[in-house]
Amino acid sequence: MTQYNNTRLLKALKRQTVDVPPVWLMRQAGRYLPEYRALRAKAGDFLTLCQTPQLATEVTLQPLQRFDLDAAILFSDILTIPHAMGLGLSFEEGEGPCFKKRIETLRDVKSLPIPEVEDELGYVPEAVRMIQHELQGRVPLIGFAGSPWTVACYMIEGRSHKNFITARKMAHQAPEILTALLEKLMKATTAYLKGQILAGVDVVMLFDTWGGLLTPAHYELFSLSSMQKVVANLKSDPSTAHIPIILFSKGAAIHLEAMAQSGADALGVDWTVALSAARERVGATICLQGNLDPALLFSTPQKIRLAVKNLLDEWGSHPGLIVNLGHGIEQDTPIENVQALVSAVHEKRG
Ligand code: CP3
Repeated sequence: MTQYNNTRLLKALKRQTVDVPPVWLMRQAGRYLPEYRALRAKAGDFLTLCQTPQLATEVTLQPLQRFDLDAAILFSDILTIPHAMGLGLSFEEGEGPCFKKRIETLRDVKSLPIPEVEDELGYVPEAVRMIQHELQGRVPLIGFAGSPWTVACYMIEGRSHKNFITARKMAHQAPEILTALLEKLMKATTAYLKGQILAGVDVVMLFDTWGGLLTPAHYELFSLSSMQKVVANLKSDPSTAHIPIILFSKGAAIHLEAMAQSGADALGVDWTVALSAARERVGATICLQGNLDPALLFSTPQKIRLAVKNLLDEWGSHPGLIVNLGHGIEQDTPIENVQALVSAVHEKRG
């Protein structure tokens, strides 16, 4: 039986004492769940799921019906913003995201509109309102957006790529174009997250999946600085200032100290760094989220329980821990192993 708890995540984000650490999983709703695959087949495609609030609500709640998770995450995608800017997003089977148009010139950037959230992206706040109505305060709801740099990667490349060479070339060859694009995305992302907050999300998270591809100097200049501006915008607006912000840059553990200065409330950490070492480096000022390897979920329930125990022992009794993976759940992950992870975190509950 799931025993929902609506305070653990929010307390951990404030670095307050909790009975056991909160746990949720990036991509907790998705293809490893047969009920997700069934609903997607019924909807026809992934974008229809995102753009139909009733379906997005159903998918958001699916993992909570199976596991004792401490948060729901809005079912959507980081590429809804460029889609609303008119780039023509589609998801091809086995290919991932694909845009009809891509960004090559300053003119391309200048012609991009900043979408009106309640209008062109209205299905997102609508889904948030519907999910909150269904959740009835059982667990907090996390809203999210991609970081400006990560979203720019897809807009410049036009599709997924293993190292986003076209976007990285632009950082060297035409930094003025990249800077203009990031500035526009920074404004659009602020408005988008504000829209989600006004519709009722309890926490927001910025996914910077590709920050770790950049040189250290370019990480600070292009990835971190644009996230920092989003954080500063939300923290200085009285209607959004109270909402905790989680910042996650994958493959960017060398930048933890700089990220800790961003104004965010929590940092997502991947599996390339020990969580206790990360805490020593950032100090007791910010909450940490992570950092089990998604590949661990292909081992056995026993090994997963041991890995969770090791993580909790290594962390000790400090406040400010959110247990999660270091990146999203892989699509063929065995469900019983996800169950083992979540229950191992909560085992000590009295
Ligand atoms: O965490 C959750 O449960 C919420 C849902 C969520 C999705 N995408 C659903 C999704 C979130 C938070 C995202 C974020 C996202 N989207 C990121 C950042 C986090 C990360 O995983 O790195 C990125 C880079 C994207 C862009 C994107 N969306 C790609 C590259 C792909 C294709 C790759 C893949 O995994 O298939 C998607 C599609 C996508 N987004 C799926 C889901 C459940 C799979 C779609 C399907 O085939 O049903």
